[in-house]
Amino acid sequence: MLNCLMKFGAYLAVFLAIVVHLILFTEIPRQIGVYRFIKQCAPLLEGLSPAFSEEPWGFTFEDLTEQNLSGQRALVTGANSGIGYEVARQLAKLGAEVTLACRSVTKCAEAAALIQKENPKGPVMTTIMDMTSLASVRESAHEYMLHQGGKALDMLFLNAGYNYIPKENGPKDCIPITSDGMEEMFQVNYLSHHFLYKLLEPMLKRSNMARVVSTSSGSSFSTYSYRIATDLETLNGCKEPFMKGVENLSYGQSKLAQIVWSKALTKRLGPDSNIYVNAFHPGLVRTALVDKVFSEAPFMLTVFDKMQSVLWSTEEGALTGLFLGVAEDRLASENIRGKYFHPQSKEVINELALDDRLQEDLWNFSESLVQKFMSSHSTATVE
Ligand SMILES: NC(=O)c1ccc[n+]([C@@H]2O[C@H](COP(=O)([O-])OP(=O)(O)OC[C@H]3O[C@@H](n4cnc5c(N)ncnc54)[C@H](OP(=O)(O)O)[C@@H]3O)[C@@H](O)[C@H]2O)c1
Repeated sequence: MLNCLMKFGAYLAVFLAIVVHLILFTEIPRQIGVYRFIKQCAPLLEGLSPAFSEEPWGFTFEDLTEQNLSGQRALVTGANSGIGYEVARQLAKLGAEVTLACRSVTKCAEAAALIQKENPKGPVMTTIMDMTSLASVRESAHEYMLHQGGKALDMLFLNAGYNYIPKENGPKDCIPITSDGMEEMFQVNYLSHHFLYKLLEPMLKRSNMARVVSTSSGSSFSTYSYRIATDLETLNGCKEPFMKGVENLSYGQSKLAQIVWSKALTKRLGPDSNIYVNAFHPGLVRTALVDKVFSEAPFMLTVFDKMQSVLWSTEEGALTGLFLGVAEDRLASENIRGKYFHPQSKEVINELALDDRLQEDLWNFSESLVQKFMSSHSTATVE
């Protein structure tokens, strides 16, 4: 009930703020000065929407078009829609050989055909990867490596993700457990990507300069008191509270894990590694994910449609991730490793991710969860 009231209060506040703006301004500009004040209240608001962002951008569409990725290979997870699709599309336009990893054969083929149509020169390939199954991730990665022979992988975008919507609006909820024995959102958004990285690491090591980019979220600022579960009992237990205001804490946990992981891996690789690992928040972007999250408040979607300053387009949402994936000179000269960026390509510190102990614990927990699945003969589930 309280949760419901808080949700309603949040929606009402947003709605009233919008009405006031509509009264004050006949046309809603993309950068509204008053929001710069609000943004200072919390780092998570930095770049959340166009209205919260300031010029100049750290990386522009003009900067993007100057990149030449011919001869480079990229793999993007969750590439059939939204931000992942846009990342894949832009990489192909810049000349990279792109592989789309998706769970649906049809959606993957359709997305690849659309990208191919725009870029008839470079090959656009697909691989089927269901992030709820470590066996599927392993099979897909092995197939990809076999197909690529001894070639290098230059860019790995760890992007697939979803936000579990509780079935009942109660304070407690149980997120489904996958057939591998793990909380589904943690496995899809985070752990499967850890596993995929492990499998593809030899290919990344062959690159002159490999870039690994995780699509995290500003929701990483909103998680449980223990931040990230590092044992199975805590991970898989029914969550109480499940929500804080409008924030889903399990989603926040999985998104914080991506940032913590980037830092842990960067430390493990050392300062001279050829692999640059970073994470980013795309901002609030109108994608299928946002449509699902707001499906019970359709008027918000109408507001989003009407007000350009509330949401980023998918092209804009992808730009910060593309910066971390393609701006090789900047990454090298500014030593951008283990960092977390918000739109538009500005580094933001998430204090929750700076804990050395948590970085180590998450890494060790992740290793223990994927260990049994490393061998292709394994049919294991985690106990
Ligand atoms: N949109 C935002 O405002 C926002 C903000 C912060 C962070 N993000 C992050 O951005 C990333 C991309 O999301 P999006 O906004 O672009 O939404 P989207 O259009 O729904 O894209 C999500 C992608 O992940 C795939 N996916 C979901 N579950 C999967 C599974 N079990 N196995 C394999 N693939 C799976 C989806 O495939 P299907 O099409 O088959 O479902 C889709 O390709 C996510 O990690 C999300 O958390 C988005």
